Amino acid sequence: MKRLLSGITPSGDGSLHIGNYLGAVRQFIELAKTNETFLMVADLHALTTIQDKAMLQKNTETLILNELALLMGELSPSTSSGLPNITFFRQSDVAEHTELQSILNNVTPLGLLKRAHAYKDKLAGDVTEEDINVGLFSYPMLMAADILLYKPDLVPVGKDQKQHIEITRDIAGRFNKIYPTSLKLRGASKKNVFKLPEPYIPEEVAVVLGTDGKRKMSKSLGNIISIFEDEEIIRKQVMSTYTDPTRIHASDPGHIEGNMVFTYLDFFGDPSTSLGTRNAKVDELKEAYRKGKVGDIEVKNYLYESLLKYFDNARQTYRELVSKPEIIKKILRDGTEKARAVAGQTMTEVREAVGLVNRYSLG
Ligand code: ADP
Ligand code: TRP
Repeated sequence: MKRLLSGITPSGDGSLHIGNYLGAVRQFIELAKTNETFLMVADLHALTTIQDKAMLQKNTETLILNELALLMGELSPSTSSGLPNITFFRQSDVAEHTELQSILNNVTPLGLLKRAHAYKDKLAGDVTEEDINVGLFSYPMLMAADILLYKPDLVPVGKDQKQHIEITRDIAGRFNKIYPTSLKLRGASKKNVFKLPEPYIPEEVAVVLGTDGKRKMSKSLGNIISIFEDEEIIRKQVMSTYTDPTRIHASDPGHIEGNMVFTYLDFFGDPSTSLGTRNAKVDELKEAYRKGKVGDIEVKNYLYESLLKYFDNARQTYRELVSKPEIIKKILRDGTEKARAVAGQTMTEVREAVGLVNRYSLG
């Protein structure tokens, strides 16, 4: 059994769309079935951009609800059975994250952070260094701390996060080199404190395009299909999805390639088949579409129905969780306890390795 860790930042409004599901949550669900899984709501990371108390609170609550509804909808037989195999917690509930970040600051060259895409992209716009807070600049350091504390084998993330994992590996390597430890573990006399994590980015869903068919699905671009919104909103989002602009009448032969309705149908076409594999109904519709025997409205209706069916369990779980906050609190309490134990152990090793432990130590 491997250990994996990931996190989602409660940015935007905290709600998840099908791009987040395919690019992130679906991997968590699949991997959690056979691996030890740590998932955090990265609320400290959200502070870099959200500096409105009520908004941060709302976003964090929304993300917790959305994520738990998806995870439990697929993994838990009932909400009362909790979340097997997954340690789910809020980053800010485990103080070791900021403590480790503070120590990692000292083994990280300034240049490494200056090369980070997120920071460079910000500067490339009409923003100057005066407008960028240090939290945003050191975002990758906090993320490195998030990861290294739990010594995971794998970090499932979207493609946009790949560089952050590379930076994490770089920082871990530097720390291990500067501070080789003499901890005796399983007979070996020398052992690195940190394990170098591997990113896990499945190619076929690395970037899910939005309903405009052009850009990455993203809340800020208004090209999403929601998971937990009212049915009418989801219907509108599906109806506005980009299909084949060369097709004027339903009787014209249509294109499947680049047609977002079929791209989404490949994933959600029939919930009874395993994810990503095509099924007879979708193949039939594609064939008919190519021959001009089925209209856009009909395939869109099928997508809409498929999505509601696919997420039916999650949507029901969502409603149940809204009315039973004590279930959420219990999951977070258990998750935090487990996360603190693991993070605390790593911090003991870190303090020892860097020389913060001495003859006058209190512990
Ligand atoms: P958004 O861009 O909608 O604000 P976030 O940046 O908060 O989404 O992303 C949360 C998680 O979902 C991350 O792991 C990210 O890589 C993944 N993700 C977001 N949008 C997509 C997408 N269009 N395709 C694939 N993965 C995505
Ligand atoms: N930065 C990630 C994102 O925006 C979220 C995140 C925070 C994360 N800490 C993490 C992801 C640790 C993986 C591991 O999507």
